Amino acid sequence: MRRVLVAGNWKMHKVPSEARIWLAELKRLLPPLESEVAVLPAFPMLPVAREVLSGTQVAYGAQDVSPHREGAYTGEVSARMLADLGCRYTIVGHSERRRYHHETDALVAEKAKRLLEEGITPILCVGEPLEVRERGEAVPYTLRQLFESLEGVEPPGPERLVIAYEPVWAIGTGQNATPEDAESMHRAIRQALAELYGEGFARRVRILYGGSVNPKNFADLLSMPNVDGGLVGGASLELESFLSLLRIA
Ligand code: 13P
Repeated sequence: MRRVLVAGNWKMHKVPSEARIWLAELKRLLPPLESEVAVLPAFPMLPVAREVLSGTQVAYGAQDVSPHREGAYTGEVSARMLADLGCRYTIVGHSERRRYHHETDALVAEKAKRLLEEGITPILCVGEPLEVRERGEAVPYTLRQLFESLEGVEPPGPERLVIAYEPVWAIGTGQNATPEDAESMHRAIRQALAELYGEGFARRVRILYGGSVNPKNFADLLSMPNVDGGLVGGASLELESFLSLLRIA
């Protein structure tokens, strides 16, 4: 009853002219899909995504959004702009933003609210750094991040929120969480969401795993009952590996 989502986070890779070719190829080679697919390029590629992907089953969205609605905020991009460009999803709270841009849970919650106001589904990222896992505190750390990043967020419909568990030590390292470790964290996240938004919500909300997902490990991760898809960095950049992930999903 939860439809698998494979979302490619391109991070700060590709330029619009490359994206145009890549997305057109994706459209041409897309296998018949039961799962849902999304690409999440940097802001300047979103108009290209709209042009190339409209009328296809491939969704697209951004990697970040301003916590402000509108106004004198030089350099910021509002949720309304993203909605106008047709974004279905947008990442908030990615660990790279938490780390390099000092984003707090409170800020992430504001960003999620702005997206929901505009009908965009936030993909909210949580996950622990290595030293926290080594201290045996991965679950409480991640759940605290989850609760605080959803502080004051009105219960959305279960289709209107996606959680991504991305252990920081697994991102870009080639060292993915084991399916069992991912599963036990995803189960804890689902229980926490049941407390927060009710059992019905928790049963239907999708929890993605992210961190060194590739065509070799994806099937095992997806075989876990609480893993509902992947938020994929490196392996979403090459068309062939992204297509392999879609065939597995
Ligand atoms: P990698 O798949 O490159 O490890 O990145 C994961 C990630 O950060 C997706 O948001």
